[in-house]
Amino acid sequence: MGTAADGIEMLRTGLVEPAMALGWQVAVTLTPNAGRWLRANGELDRLETLTGLPVRDTPRLPTEPRPHPVADCYVVAPASANYVAKLATGVSDNQALTQVSEALGTIGVPVVVFPRVNAAHARHPAWQGHLETLRKANVDLVYGPDVWPLYEPREGPEVRELPWPTIMESIQQVAPNASRRSD
Ligand SMILES: Cc1cc2nc3c(=O)[nH]c(=O)nc-3n(C[C@H](O)[C@H](O)[C@H](O)COP(=O)(O)O)c2cc1C
Repeated sequence: MGTAADGIEMLRTGLVEPAMALGWQVAVTLTPNAGRWLRANGELDRLETLTGLPVRDTPRLPTEPRPHPVADCYVVAPASANYVAKLATGVSDNQALTQVSEALGTIGVPVVVFPRVNAAHARHPAWQGHLETLRKANVDLVYGPDVWPLYEPREGPEVRELPWPTIMESIQQVAPNASRRSD
């Protein structure tokens, strides 16, 4: 899953390609905003070619088949502050939220979330509660000063690589048996 946060443009090289190199099957779902971003820069097409699956950013029609295989691990990277707030409060108004919200209540389906936020997001009065809710639901949060130091808005480094290797390590810890491609 990817959302409209800085760094989403590196989803393919940062996460999808390394995961596929381990033999995992990867299916990409984006929020509608992230879909707009990656369609505009050509990454959405590249992700579809790479994964061999459609990138989802809208829900299917009731008459359409499910375009993705059943997932045995969900990863949201990067997760916007908006996405984290909606996930924690049970708002599922897009495909990327619907799938992960269901996974929160599904024993045995691990969820890894990397909140790509700044210091102002983290000072929102509801923020700590959102993180606690997600932790209680066994979400593996890639979060903290060692992984992602928080800067004030517009004050961080100009170019900031997302912590893709740490995200990959978290996935391997929570889902050591993530599905291998059958081919
Ligand atoms: C260029 C740009 C970069 C953004 N980067 C972030 C970000 O890193 N983290 C974040 O929480 N929001 C960021 N936002 C704001 C989100 O895009 C906005 O809250 C949006 O509603 C999130 O939609 P989504 O959660 O449905 O993907 C950014 C917005 C723009 C225009």
